[in-house]
Amino acid sequence: MKTVVILNGPNLNLLGQREPATYGVQTLEDVRQLCTSACELHQLRADFRQSNHEGILIDWIHEAGAAQAAGQVAGVILNAGAYTHTSIALADAIKGAQVRVIELHISNVHAREPFRHQSYISAVAAGVMFGFGTNGYSLAISAMAQLIQGEQRV
Ligand code: DQA
Repeated sequence: MKTVVILNGPNLNLLGQREPATYGVQTLEDVRQLCTSACELHQLRADFRQSNHEGILIDWIHEAGAAQAAGQVAGVILNAGAYTHTSIALADAIKGAQVRVIELHISNVHAREPFRHQSYISAVAAGVMFGFGTNGYSLAISAMAQLIQGEQRV
């Protein structure tokens, strides 16, 4: 059974209390449970993490790349929060680690401030999911399952 690494960046620990009109009322723990169930549906395992620190997210991406190369990890679902719009280092990490990434945002970033329209992650991502609320996590897990389908048959 392969693992989907679900990485959440800065301020996502505040889900549920943070701008509920934009991010909804579900807590990060609710999202963790949603991800665990969505992964089970696809015979995948969820490894769900959150950090407010860019370097820690980079270390986790390197770790996931090595585990993907070893056949243990399907890929990463990455909600990098505001680092999406600023972090060349995160984009370089994804490229360097050769890890499969689905970029995710709870909100529709393109319907928000212009600075949220720019993403350093999109260019190195297999795909992007945004604007579906926290349900986007389960949609992204389905997308990840489809992406690796060919691989798993081999
Ligand atoms: C976010 C969108 C980002 O612009 C913002 O900085 C976040 C959350 C989202 O999930 O919608 O922290 O990634």
